[in-house]
Amino acid sequence: MYSTAESKVLFDQTQKLLKSNIKVEDLDQLIKVLHFHEWKYAIQNDPVISDFEYDTLYKSLEKIEHENPSLIRPDSPTQRVSSDLKSDFPKVVHLVPMLSLDNSYNAADLQDFERQIRKLTGIEDGPIEYTVEPKFDGGSIALVYENDLLARAATRGNGSEGEEMTANAKAMTSIPLRAAFSELGIQKAELRGESLIRKDVFIKLNEEREKEDKTLFANPRNAATGGLRTKDANQTAERKIETFVFQIGYAVDDQGNDMIPELSTHMNSLDKLTTLGFKIPQQERKLCSNIQEAIKVCEHWQEIREEYPYEIDGMVVKVNSFELQEKCGSTQHHPRWAIAYKFKAKQATSKLERVEYQVGKIGAVTPVAKITPVQLAGVTVSSISLHNEDFIKSKDIRIGDTVLVERAGDVIPYIVKSFPELRNGSEEAVVYPTHCPVCNHELLRPENEAVWRCVNVACEAQVIQRMIHHVSKDAMNIDGFGASYVERFYELGWLKDISDIYNLDYEAISRLEGFGQRSATKLKEAVEKAKNNPIHRLLNSLAIHHLGRKASKVIAEKIAHVMNLKTWTIEDFTSIKDIGPVVAENVKAFFDDEVNVEMLQRMEEYGVNLFQTEEDKPKEVAADAPLAGKTILFTGTLEQLTRKEAQLMAEEAGAKNISAVSSNLDILVVGEKAGSKLKKAEALGTVKIWSEVEFIEIVGRV
Ligand code: IVH
Repeated sequence: MYSTAESKVLFDQTQKLLKSNIKVEDLDQLIKVLHFHEWKYAIQNDPVISDFEYDTLYKSLEKIEHENPSLIRPDSPTQRVSSDLKSDFPKVVHLVPMLSLDNSYNAADLQDFERQIRKLTGIEDGPIEYTVEPKFDGGSIALVYENDLLARAATRGNGSEGEEMTANAKAMTSIPLRAAFSELGIQKAELRGESLIRKDVFIKLNEEREKEDKTLFANPRNAATGGLRTKDANQTAERKIETFVFQIGYAVDDQGNDMIPELSTHMNSLDKLTTLGFKIPQQERKLCSNIQEAIKVCEHWQEIREEYPYEIDGMVVKVNSFELQEKCGSTQHHPRWAIAYKFKAKQATSKLERVEYQVGKIGAVTPVAKITPVQLAGVTVSSISLHNEDFIKSKDIRIGDTVLVERAGDVIPYIVKSFPELRNGSEEAVVYPTHCPVCNHELLRPENEAVWRCVNVACEAQVIQRMIHHVSKDAMNIDGFGASYVERFYELGWLKDISDIYNLDYEAISRLEGFGQRSATKLKEAVEKAKNNPIHRLLNSLAIHHLGRKASKVIAEKIAHVMNLKTWTIEDFTSIKDIGPVVAENVKAFFDDEVNVEMLQRMEEYGVNLFQTEEDKPKEVAADAPLAGKTILFTGTLEQLTRKEAQLMAEEAGAKNISAVSSNLDILVVGEKAGSKLKKAEALGTVKIWSEVEFIEIVGRV
């Protein structure tokens, strides 16, 4: 419907609108732009802006229309009742309309919501209780029970009419076919819920589909909503779709009297529905005595959302009392007593301005995308690693392209894709450099590696990066000695290699701009302290390719003095468990090089410790230690211990921490919300499964 050229114009207009303060003069353009994004999202299934960006535009439109009601046009997106109705399924009218939710994005929005609630209920300063629960990101469903039997299930449809899918609902074991509503005096009830697929189940589902050469589902939500509307109920069952119930929308006794007031509060109604056998959010639903508490819960969930086994796109805050809900009432679109707290966008669009190349401590040349800064889940992002040449090629990313940026579970943002359809011809392919951008040495791409490397060890960038690594937390941990000092002292000619770090002139440093006697003395103390580090830290600080913390530790255990390594053969290295030939070659090559040996000698002269310390020696584990020789893994959220504490306790008790469930695993300790690891361990049948309390009891006997 929209040509490439039109799409491009509309996309540019979108970006301008998003950056500007939208006014009534922009109304026509705003509507055009929103129509375009509706089409991209709903018809093409290929959105080019994030939900958050869409909502921002939509809210501006609502505001303009609210202030100028005469300008409301029949084709305005606000006049649309959202609908997932298609065709084939029989239509049913919901007993009460299934409304949407209004959105909020921050604490201030929720405070506005509270002010509104106080106005509507007439409670000026008395307490108002709120509930907070996850906003499940699946497909909405309405379940009607009559005389204790599941009589009908339907999708949300357009809110007043949905599509009947009772057979599919019956295929879901989380939906009771019979529920004792009669014990509550209820003859007929309509429940609202959300059907969705657990994240780990979704991954497996797609793996299976891949094996069978079927098209993959884009996300758990699509897999779930598709599964609700399939003609084959077996499909619903196979996809392991689960239905959470989050609301009772309608309840009458055999005289037709409204029974909802009897249930008194939302929290109580969910407790009752739990007793009747429904799947209800339990620990994850919180009762809050004021809005401040509710805000805290929402903000906490924003932090932990990735750990939750189901996809959620926010939280829902509801007034707990049904009496107050009644007083608040609803608009045509949403109840006034509830609001969604939408999590910060994880995706946004931006423009690739240029690609820069960073040279790492071992010469790897990494392309870094410099994008027009965008806000992503609360952080401004302007630089994103493009990993390597193959990544850029496989994603067909060009300079000038519009790109979709995402921050997933971890904090590292990445580029999901570019939008070739939005190109205007001025975009340029990324030309990978053939020579080091810093020292101009020719780059090499070792066989079987995805990276191009500058192999000149004297390359200035590498020298600096090696020093930055040397002082870092993981290596020598020199407090306060960061990248900026390294760069500054290097430019002044005071640092040529890492040995110079231990021979600095603190008098000269104290005279530098921004320094003083105090900061120079502090730096000196930190450097002096680092001189006594155990040698495993020193080995790790040398930036030898593949020699990380773990390998440094096992080598340090075997040597009385660092210089002993000068005479080590490859076999000496590889005879150590966990040391492979690649690390062996690299460490040997380092110690074969006179330049490196002399550097270490200078360090020793300056007072850096090269002798094995007590901390380097292997810890003796008594044969009768409670977990001697066992492997252990922690999963889920622990209540009493942090993950690190638990792992240390396990180590002290003689166990080895490993990271995956396999036949090598002896013990799995499960905390709250344990997911796929627990399932896998159970399936194996050979793994001992302990609770945190059991673990503490057993290890506590050390
Ligand atoms: S309450 C009368 N609670 O979000 C309004 N909705 O954007 C009832 N949703 O269509 C909504 N989790 O499908 C409510 N805990 C929850 C929810 C939830 C997901 C969905 C629901 C609704 C949509 C609105």
